[in-house]
Amino acid sequence: MDKLVIEGGCALAGEVRVSGAKNAALPILCAALLTPEPLVLSNLPRLNDVRTMQSLLGQMGMRQDGSAPDAVSLDASRIDWPLAPYELVKTMRASILALGPLLARCGEARVSLPGGCAIGLRPVDQHVKGLQAMGAEVDLTHGYINARAARLKGTRFVFDLVTVTGTENLMMAATLADGVTSLENAAREPEVVDLAHCLVAMGARITGAGSDRIVIEGVERLHGASHAIMPDRIETGTFLAATAAAGGDVVIAGTDWHSLAAVIDKLREAGIDIATMDTAIRVRSSGRPRAANVRTAPFPAFPTDMQAQFMALVSRAAGTSVITETIFENRMMHVQELRRLGADIEVEGNSAVVRGVERLTGANVMATDLRASACLVIAGLVADGPTTIDRIYHLDRGYERLEDKLCALGARIRRVQ
Ligand code: EPU
Repeated sequence: MDKLVIEGGCALAGEVRVSGAKNAALPILCAALLTPEPLVLSNLPRLNDVRTMQSLLGQMGMRQDGSAPDAVSLDASRIDWPLAPYELVKTMRASILALGPLLARCGEARVSLPGGCAIGLRPVDQHVKGLQAMGAEVDLTHGYINARAARLKGTRFVFDLVTVTGTENLMMAATLADGVTSLENAAREPEVVDLAHCLVAMGARITGAGSDRIVIEGVERLHGASHAIMPDRIETGTFLAATAAAGGDVVIAGTDWHSLAAVIDKLREAGIDIATMDTAIRVRSSGRPRAANVRTAPFPAFPTDMQAQFMALVSRAAGTSVITETIFENRMMHVQELRRLGADIEVEGNSAVVRGVERLTGANVMATDLRASACLVIAGLVADGPTTIDRIYHLDRGYERLEDKLCALGARIRRVQ
């Protein structure tokens, strides 16, 4: 199993280019199921989660042709098996995103229930209730969601809570439904908007994406299209936090600061110098950051996917920060690893009280999930002496060559077996 060995203490300098967004790519790959014509995607990130989604879609019968490393043409003219089996769903929850498109296109779908995951219980009841509201017959047997509907019907559906993939699943399903669907209390995340742009390019009629009310007028069929995946705002935020923590002067290119304004505000509150440009962000930092409190919440508030990286930054702040996680019930597993590096953090309920320490010291630590891995990389960059991070496969699910990109900025990171 691969590990990363980080020699801390190097400031970062230079320019780094952000990849396409994982959480936009995954639903957009599934959107290809909605049309018999080719969907051509560019700026596709080369990540393990993307490869897993591609092999899931391949098993269903979708043909895929990669003209360049970050581009793919998806052809779902035939769907042989509208099925997402347990073996793949258990490795990647986002497989649930195949449910809505399969049902809308094939009239039936069988998708394994995802079950629990490291960061929380994460049920999919809203996905199922929404499809039922659109007239689907759904039963849960042998660990599978079995859904049927000759044609889904437009409806008004109010989500009990804000769910990103739930909104995406129902929005995709509604594009081929009979009549108008309005999704209320919908997720406003930029990835939902990117998916909507792709669906509109395919001929869907969608308004309101990016607000909490999305209206979709169903059409008979969707057609082929080309779409460039949006830049990854969480990768961008991770480079911001890494430079803020390690010190230095970095330009993050090929990104859009509007999608992470809440993160930029918090970094500025922590004393980090950030300049935003059209498609780039410059971050400069020296010395210890100031303490800053953070509360995660759905977009446009501070994203849960940046909570762990921000905690690594303020673990060395001058002062005490309180970090509250409101989205997932078990997303503080990095705390005990940060403690091994000398951080002073106490967890009380869903909040972490982080008393900034002057220095962290390198140690052996274990990655527990994707963003926790990024948090440990950042902590390793500022720690005195070497830090070894085990179970780095979590990192490879969602970051494209993170250690190579950081090394190009002057970090000292080695991948070892
Ligand atoms: N929830 C329910 N019922 C549902 C759906 C969600 O109770 O039917 C709950 C969840 O248990 C959670 C909350 O609602 O407590 C929000 O979950 P959401 O459905 O929004 O999360 P998700 O769609 O499964 C996506 C991202 C996550 C990101 C969250 C929150 C993708 C593929 N995944 O997950 O990304 O943390 O939204 O923004 O888009 C990551 O990239 O590291 C990651 C975990």
